[in-house]
Amino acid sequence: MRTRCDQTPAWAQLTSAFEAAGKSFDVRASFAADPQRFYRFSQDAPHVFADLSKNLVDAPTQSLLFELARQCGLEQHRDAMFAGQVVNSTENRAVMHFLLRNPPAVQYNPGRPAINKIAKVRAEVQAEVDQTLNAMLAFAGQVRANDHITDIVNIGIGGSDLGPQMAVLALRAFADKPQRIHFVSNVDGQQLLDVLAACKPESTLFLIASKTFTTAETMLNAQSAKAWFEAQGGQDISHHFAALTTNIAAANAFGITTTFGFWDWVGGRYSLWSAIGLPLAIAIGGKAFREFLAGAHAMDEHFCRAPLEQNLPVRLGLLDVWYRNFHGFSNRSIAPYSHALRRLPAYLQQLEMESNGKRVDTQGHALPYDTAPALWGEPGTNGQHAYFQMLHQGTSVIPVEFVAVKKASHPLPGHNSQLLANMLAQAQALMVGKTDNGGHRHFPGNRPSTVLLLDELTPASLGALLALQEHRVFVSGAVWGINSFDQWGVELGKVLAKDIESRLHSGDASGLDPSTAGLLARLKT
Ligand code: F6P
Repeated sequence: MRTRCDQTPAWAQLTSAFEAAGKSFDVRASFAADPQRFYRFSQDAPHVFADLSKNLVDAPTQSLLFELARQCGLEQHRDAMFAGQVVNSTENRAVMHFLLRNPPAVQYNPGRPAINKIAKVRAEVQAEVDQTLNAMLAFAGQVRANDHITDIVNIGIGGSDLGPQMAVLALRAFADKPQRIHFVSNVDGQQLLDVLAACKPESTLFLIASKTFTTAETMLNAQSAKAWFEAQGGQDISHHFAALTTNIAAANAFGITTTFGFWDWVGGRYSLWSAIGLPLAIAIGGKAFREFLAGAHAMDEHFCRAPLEQNLPVRLGLLDVWYRNFHGFSNRSIAPYSHALRRLPAYLQQLEMESNGKRVDTQGHALPYDTAPALWGEPGTNGQHAYFQMLHQGTSVIPVEFVAVKKASHPLPGHNSQLLANMLAQAQALMVGKTDNGGHRHFPGNRPSTVLLLDELTPASLGALLALQEHRVFVSGAVWGINSFDQWGVELGKVLAKDIESRLHSGDASGLDPSTAGLLARLKT
């Protein structure tokens, strides 16, 4: 049983530290007092450099946060996950998506108990994981080599859409085949129709991506796609439909015989590394896909091995706790200064909010403190011309996480320096502010931000960036004492939607609340 974070001595000390100095902390004064602050609060991790120096935190507070992590049993919880224990207790499942990105030669290391356990767990499922990866990459290779396939349509939602879609866009510079990859997630039939308008059945491959193969939106889109395929004279479903799922039996029952499986220990929002990554593997090829996995693995190693003080996921996750529970910041804005990373905010939204948007501890007891912030964002510089006004001068402080890439993936002169200059300028402006006697042109400054910097956006660096984000979410979730791997909060709406859909046909409003009944009546006329 882990100690609840608010019952640790470190929490009490952090509360005092916040009252004494934390709430009035001025990062500008801190830079003035400590010329080494940038170096003290920045670090290299695999493929990612992080500047944390513009955050509202000093060295003593950071030490207390590390203490908090230790007192909450973060390291033991991390090791339990990596050892394959049932950390997803409400679904009685282990959480082992990291096994999907372990290279074959993770060796027994007598000095590293956690890593030893990884090796043991991996040995148990190694053959199956490798076999599936090899089969999936071989299939990706066949598709890539098949000139008759011009369009790939991924039908899935949530983790079966956001990850692959984000990654395919992010690594477009590595897509060396002319095949178009489309993503259909919304049950609004317009999205499917728009995609199908550009496709021909004989040259289209549908990937039905669903961990459960029961998700209503995906099932309806898949059925409509199949109906379209048959109505257009499409032949041979076995060559034009493949399923990416843990529920092979349901895929077979649907009529799909080409299937790539994964396991219940891979959460939906952690599934990009599994068969759900097939669209990415088709886009960039097997070699690059393995580099993507290797980049993530390098971050796993960092998370497992680096001391907390130089452990980037730990530092980010603890800052999240400091901001949420002590400063009371209820949002985090993510600003990728990279067109290729334009879907990163949507992907991170599910990762953070579905994982840590919880109000009870692992035993089901209500928590007296806040958990996940609302996470949202747009790529820079677009966001600057939309909502950055509020970030600079609004009444709420919203920490911003910039993600930037040093080397551009395109040759257009002038663009990358302007893009990077804007990113630096926004982070600078948020921090330094501008005094104008409190009037309209006044910028209070002292607004926190983090910069995550990649040298280049490659399969490996993207893998590392995403694993970093997964682990930072794990860290804050572990401190909060919640189960970051279930998602019961999505269930009620699913059940009600089924009931209401039948009422939309019958018009029966009996027993409904007056608002829903009123809207139903309006929709029926
Ligand atoms: O409804 C939420 C959710 O279960 C997500 O966690 C998941 O990523 C998404 O639905 C899709 O689920 P599936 O892959 O089983 O279709």
